[in-house]
Amino acid sequence: NEGSLWGARFATGPSPELQALSRSTHFDWVLAPYDLAGSRAHATALRAAGYLTDDELTRMHAGLDTLAHAVADGILVARPEDEDVHGALEAALIAEVGAELGGKLRAGRSRNDQIATLVRLFLRDHAALIARDVLRLVDAIVAQADAHPEAIMPGRTHLQHAQPILLAHHLQAHAWPLVRDLERLRDWSVRASVSPYGGGALAGATLGLDPQLVADELGLARPAENSIDGTAARDVVAEFAFVAAMIAVDLSRFAEDVILWNTREFGFVTLDDGYSTGSSIMPQKKNPDIAELARGKAGRLIGNLSGLLATLKALPLAYNRDLQEDKEPVFDSVATLELVLPAFAGMVATMRFDTERMAALAPQGFSLATDVAEWLVKQGVPFRDAHEISGSLVRACEQRGIGLEDADDALLGDVSPHLTAAVREVLSIEGSVASRTGAGGTAPVRVAEQRAELVARAQAA
Ligand code: ARG
Repeated sequence: NEGSLWGARFATGPSPELQALSRSTHFDWVLAPYDLAGSRAHATALRAAGYLTDDELTRMHAGLDTLAHAVADGILVARPEDEDVHGALEAALIAEVGAELGGKLRAGRSRNDQIATLVRLFLRDHAALIARDVLRLVDAIVAQADAHPEAIMPGRTHLQHAQPILLAHHLQAHAWPLVRDLERLRDWSVRASVSPYGGGALAGATLGLDPQLVADELGLARPAENSIDGTAARDVVAEFAFVAAMIAVDLSRFAEDVILWNTREFGFVTLDDGYSTGSSIMPQKKNPDIAELARGKAGRLIGNLSGLLATLKALPLAYNRDLQEDKEPVFDSVATLELVLPAFAGMVATMRFDTERMAALAPQGFSLATDVAEWLVKQGVPFRDAHEISGSLVRACEQRGIGLEDADDALLGDVSPHLTAAVREVLSIEGSVASRTGAGGTAPVRVAEQRAELVARAQAA
């Protein structure tokens, strides 16, 4: 079994069916640059412990660098007979520097500690790329909020008109979860900054290699505390898959708003042509496919997370080959987010709002009824009674087919002597919005305050 990492104790080579099942190079090749970086660090540790001479280390590093360039250029790819990225790159190194030197590199390491380290390196790099994309989306949301500082829209609960709110307030409400996702990525990255390298297959190394040296070379904070845990744990992957799924779910909630806002019935937004799709039969159609794909792909990322958790459930210590099943789902989550986030940010940045229509719809559905009740409280009416009075006014107006603001003095007085003409000061959407000055509320002054906080938190994450 030429070029394999094992074989001497086997009378025959692997069957073709086993080879086909076992092969992972079609998905783990993305780890090749990290595998080579790990090998570089490991060679340095072998030199420090006296297993390589200075000259050997120089040649080893030169060989690994040559391979790294060949991988980056797409010249070096896995061969059909390679089982995984680790074996393929060891074979390539031996071809590059010779069997005598190349054969020394594997001392004191196992694919189990390698893979556990490489997956962390890969995910930490992609966490940074995803964070950059999330931040760009947050910027696009904030820019839209800034472009519409006074626009008022119907705020909804249960999808029913509830209270008027600022569009900027609502947009920022979609940005806050993304800011928390940025913080989650940052927290995860700190927790993932661990190097299992040197743990060997599970029990630890005998050769006196310095694991901190390897961790330092790889930009990781420290070696794993426990070699069994270091090689067998995948909570680091599951947690990443969770944050990725959470980002997708947060996008899907914004996507749903965009899809609704873009309907003729809502008519709140127009999507830019560059960020909409057409129909093969209906010439007039302009569809919000980016939002729909974002919504749909959330299901896929949830599946990746739950599949991974199912693989880990009840898996005994230490390394088991089942653990290889962590890669495809989490790599898919990474690739999906890296596709969806830039498209989504472009859609948000170019969306045009019909603020007149939003403002016209804002007072409909008696959305100022709470303002009436709270005005009554300010006149000394207990809230319980105020709620009843405002509710009766809603019913009286509904029976007459008019809005609250259309009720004349006689009708107001009929409903309750507490309802004087002065109540009209709160019967405008601008007045209503401006009065919600409580913490985090929709008053323009509060929305401007939280905008600053939002941007600071996003930048800090
Ligand atoms: N490809 C494996 C994985 O992704 C790592 C190799 C470990 N293989 C082994 N037979 N111990 O987990």
